[in-house]
Amino acid sequence: MSRSAHPAGPRHADVFTEGHYSAPPADLNALDPKVWAHTVSRTDEGVVTVGGLEVTALAEEFGTPAYFLDETDFRERARAWRTAFGHDADVFYAGKAFLSRAVVRWLYEEGLNLDVCSGGELATALSAGMPADRIAFHGNNKSEYEIRTAVEKGVGRIVLDSFQEIVRVAHVARSLGKRQRVQIRVTVGVEAHTHEFIATAHEDQKFGIALADGQAAEAVRRALGLDSLELVGIHSHIGSQIFDMAGFEVAARRVVALLAAVRDEHGVELPEIDLGGGLGIAYTSDDDPREPHEIAKALSEIVTRECEAAKLRTPRISVEPGRAIVGPTAFTLYEVGTIKPLDGLRTYVSVDGGMSDNIRTALYDAEYSVALVSRVSEAEPMLVRVVGKHCESGDIVVKDAFLPADLAPGDLIAVPATGAYCRSMASNYNHALRPPVVAVKDGAARVIVRRETEEDLLRLDVG
Ligand code: LLP
Repeated sequence: MSRSAHPAGPRHADVFTEGHYSAPPADLNALDPKVWAHTVSRTDEGVVTVGGLEVTALAEEFGTPAYFLDETDFRERARAWRTAFGHDADVFYAGKAFLSRAVVRWLYEEGLNLDVCSGGELATALSAGMPADRIAFHGNNKSEYEIRTAVEKGVGRIVLDSFQEIVRVAHVARSLGKRQRVQIRVTVGVEAHTHEFIATAHEDQKFGIALADGQAAEAVRRALGLDSLELVGIHSHIGSQIFDMAGFEVAARRVVALLAAVRDEHGVELPEIDLGGGLGIAYTSDDDPREPHEIAKALSEIVTRECEAAKLRTPRISVEPGRAIVGPTAFTLYEVGTIKPLDGLRTYVSVDGGMSDNIRTALYDAEYSVALVSRVSEAEPMLVRVVGKHCESGDIVVKDAFLPADLAPGDLIAVPATGAYCRSMASNYNHALRPPVVAVKDGAARVIVRRETEEDLLRLDVG
C-alpha cells in the first residue's frame, strides 16, 4: 500500500490500524455498477456521464450541489419489482424515500401503487394524477385533517397504527358516509439487523400495535366491530436497509398466524397482508443487496407455506420498497472546495453541500462511496473525509474514502446511491438552499425539483 502523494498528505498506515475501512480500491477511477445508477459510465476522456450527459456539462447547466436521477434506471427498478411480484401482489413505492410529481407519474406508468405518510405526500401524489385507490396512507399520528382528506379523496387503504386511530378513522368515515378500507399495522417483535433508528418491529418503539399480549387481536376485534371500517388486512414493516431475509420470514409467519387466529375467532379470512419495505441497497462495494425476484420468491413461498399449514387461503401480498427503487438511481454532484490535509490523520475535503443535502451520515453513521467524476487521475489514493460547509464538525458526507491525491479545488466529485432519504430529508440548516433534482434520460436532462432560492427562504420569513 502506497503513501499519499500529497505533499502534506496523511500517513495511511497509522489510521489503517483503526480498521474503519478496507484498503483503497485497485482502481480509483472505476465505477462499481453496484453503487452507481445503471446508465453511469466514463467517456474515453474520463468524464463521468449519466443518461449520456457529461457531469461537467450538467454542473455548468444546473450548478452544484445537485442530485442527478437516472430516470431509465428508476423505471427499470420499479418495473423489476412490479414484474417480480406479478399480478397476485401489489408494489407500493414508499414516497418518503423521495417523492415528486414526475416520480409519481413514472410509478403510475410502470403500474406501481404509492405509500404516503403525510398530507403533503398525499397532495403531491394526487396532484400528479395517482388514482386515490392506488394510495395507502401511513403514519403513527395522522392528524384529523389528514384522515379526513384521505377518506374524502378515497385512498385505497389507511394503515391504522393505534387503538385511538381505529376510532378516529371510523368516526371520520362515518361522518362522511363512507366505508374506509383499512389495514392494521402490527409490530411482530423481531429485531431487524439495522441501525436502531430505522428498526421498527421490536416492541419498544412508536409504531404499530404489538402482536404480543393479544393487543393486535384486540385491535382486529375492534376494527371488525365498526361498520364504517372495512378491515382488509394486516401490515408489518420491520425496518429499513436490511439485507437478511430472516426478519421478513419471521414477520410473515407471525402475521399469517394472526390471520389464522382471526379466522378462528371471527370466521373471517382477511384478504391482504403487507410486509412493508426495508430492503437494503449497496452504498459501498461491500454491500450485497438482494434482487426483487429473490425477495418476491422468498416472501411468497413463506406466506404460501404458512397459509397452507394453517388452512388459509393465501392472501394478496403487498410490499412497500422505497430505498430499493430510488436509492441507487441518483448521485449527488459536488464541487470540491477547501482541501485540508491533517498530517497523520486524513485529508478533509470540503464540498459545497453537506448535512443539509445528506443527513444520513450524521444521523445513522451511514457509509457512502465517492468518486472523482470530472476527470480521471492516476495519482495515488489519498484517505479522505468528505465534509460539508455547515457550522458543525459532524457535518460529514463520506466518513472514510479514497480519492486521488491530486484532487484540487474545482474538481467535481459525486456520491452515489443518494436517491433515497437525501433530498427527502434535506434541510435549510444554516439557510442552505436545498439542491435541485435533475432527471436525466436518453441524452436529455430536466429539473423535476428546482433549486431553492434566497427568495424561497425569504418568502417564508414574514416577521
Ligand atoms: N413502509 C413503511 C411503513 C415505512 O415506514 C418505510 C420506511 C417504508 C415502507 C420504506 O422503507 P425502505 O424500503 O425505503 O427502506 N430515513 C431512513 C429510513 C427511514 C425509513 C422509514 N420508513 C434512512 O435514511 O435510512
